[in-house]
Amino acid sequence: MYSEKVMDHFQNPRNVGEMENPSGVGTVGNAKCGDIMRMYLDIDENGIIKEAKFKTFGCGAAVATSSMATELVAGKTVQEALEVTNKAVMEALDGLPPVKVHCSLLAEQAIHAALWDYAQKNGIKIEGLEPPVNDIEELEEEEEY
Ligand code: FES
Repeated sequence: MYSEKVMDHFQNPRNVGEMENPSGVGTVGNAKCGDIMRMYLDIDENGIIKEAKFKTFGCGAAVATSSMATELVAGKTVQEALEVTNKAVMEALDGLPPVKVHCSLLAEQAIHAALWDYAQKNGIKIEGLEPPVNDIEELEEEEEY
């Protein structure tokens, strides 16, 4: 059912963890299944992504896609990182079963949410970047009351 690359990234996910003082952080939820992903980006003064880390509370396909996504965005400019779409991530993983395609959207949305946070913090505009659709920060903050 899964490609070797998906199995590899699921069993040995790269860049798992949290980041202290990230340049940008984004948390998104998958409306279909309720799974959650948080993406941290460390971006240097030239707008190059030095490192990406993630935490995923989700299925194997979500873990594999977020792992691959962190590898794909590292070394890219913030503008180039926008091209790391769920399709690009799936291609890099040699595909996903059709029922798991929605899981790969989390990785794309989490990257976008982290880039949005970075842009907001630095007062810049990233061409083509839309506000995050599934950002659940507000939800989490509400839950703390
Ligand atoms: Fe929820 Fe895959 S089933 S992200």
